[in-house]
Amino acid sequence: MQDRFGRQISYLRISVTDRCNLRCLYCMPEEGVAFQPHSEVLRYEEIVRLAQVAVGLGITRLRLTGGEPLVRRDVVDLVRALSHLPGVEEVALTTNATLLAEYARPLKEAGLARVNVSLDSLRPERYREITRGGDLSRVWAGIAAAEEAGLSPIKVNAVIVRGLNDDELEDFVRLAAERNLHVRFIELMALGESARWQPRGYVPSAELKERLAGLLARSPLQKGEGGLPGAGPAEYYQVSPGGTVGFISPVSNHFCQSCNRLRLTAVGTLRPCLLSEREVDVKSALRRGADEAELRRLFLQAVEIKPGKQELPQCCPELGAQGEAAASGEGGAGGGRERKGRLMSQIGG
Ligand code: 5AD
Ligand code: SF4
Repeated sequence: MQDRFGRQISYLRISVTDRCNLRCLYCMPEEGVAFQPHSEVLRYEEIVRLAQVAVGLGITRLRLTGGEPLVRRDVVDLVRALSHLPGVEEVALTTNATLLAEYARPLKEAGLARVNVSLDSLRPERYREITRGGDLSRVWAGIAAAEEAGLSPIKVNAVIVRGLNDDELEDFVRLAAERNLHVRFIELMALGESARWQPRGYVPSAELKERLAGLLARSPLQKGEGGLPGAGPAEYYQVSPGGTVGFISPVSNHFCQSCNRLRLTAVGTLRPCLLSEREVDVKSALRRGADEAELRRLFLQAVEIKPGKQELPQCCPELGAQGEAAASGEGGAGGGRERKGRLMSQIGG
C-alpha cells in the first residue's frame, strides 16, 4: 500500500488492550482510568481476520502493543495465529516486561520474533515511583527470560524526563554495553498526562548526545549497519560489539516522511496517525459480516487519509509542530488522551 505521499505502508501496530498493570506518571492517571468494556475490544479472531486483510495489502510486520499486551489473557495464542499467517515476516511486541519472565518462552515458541521493553529507570525505588508501584526485579527477570528464549535483539525504550531520570543516562549506556542491549532514549511528547511534564521535562536528543559525547562513538551507525532489524526512526551509536544506544526524537526531529505504519486500536478502529483523530471504524463492518473486499476498502481508506507532514498541525493544533514528527515515532505506546477522548493506551503508540 502506498499513501498519497508515496510512503509504503508495511507495518501495522495492533493494540490488544487498553489495560495496563502499571500507571506510569506520564502515561496514566493514578486512578479513574475508564477502561473499555470487553465487548468493545476486538476479539482475537477479529484481530487475526483484520491482520489477514492487511497482509493481503502489503503489511509484512506486526507489533502488538497495549496498554500492556501481556495482561490480556491468552495473548500467546494470538501471537501464534498471527505469526503463522502467510506473508507475515515478523511479529514483535512492546511490553513493560513485568510479566515477561513467565511469557518469554511460550511467546518465542508461538513465533514471536522479539520484544521492545519500556524501562525508564534502573533504580528500584525510582522505578516504583515512576510506574506507581512497579517492581524492577520483575523487569530484569523478564529481560533475562527474553534473552534466554532468543527474543532478540532486545530494545529498551527509556523516555527521558528532566529531573526525573536524566541523571541515569550513563547507566543506561553502560547497560546497553554490558548486556548487549539496544537502549533507545525517547523524547517526551506533550500528550495527555505528559502535557504536565513536558514543558519542564522535555530533554532534546541533541542535549542527551552532548551529555554523552564521551561515551558515544563520533558518528552514528548508517541504516542497516549494526544488524538492527526494523531500525525505524532512531539514530543509533555502537557502544559495544553487541550493544547500541539510539535516540528517538519525535519532538525535535521530524520523521513523518518515512512513516510506514498504520495502527489498529484496541476498540477496532484503524488510525493512520498517532496524532490525528481521523480513524476508520473497521469493527462495525466486521461485526456486520463484511466481506474481504469491504475490509480491504476500509484499509485503503485509512491509508488514503494518512496525513502528510504538513497537515498534522491542523489536526493537532494544540501540539503544534511537535505533532508532526511524533506521528511516526515509537514513542507513545503509553499515555495520553486525545482531544476526542481516545486514550493513548487504546491506540498503542
Ligand atoms: N512521550 C514519549 N514516549 C512516550 N511513551 C509513552 N508516552 C510517551 C510520551 N508522552 C513511550 C512508552 C514506551 C514507548 C512505546 O512510548 O514509555 O516506552
Ligand atoms: Fe503501562 Fe506503558 Fe502506560 Fe506505563 S507507559 S502505564 S507501562 S501503558
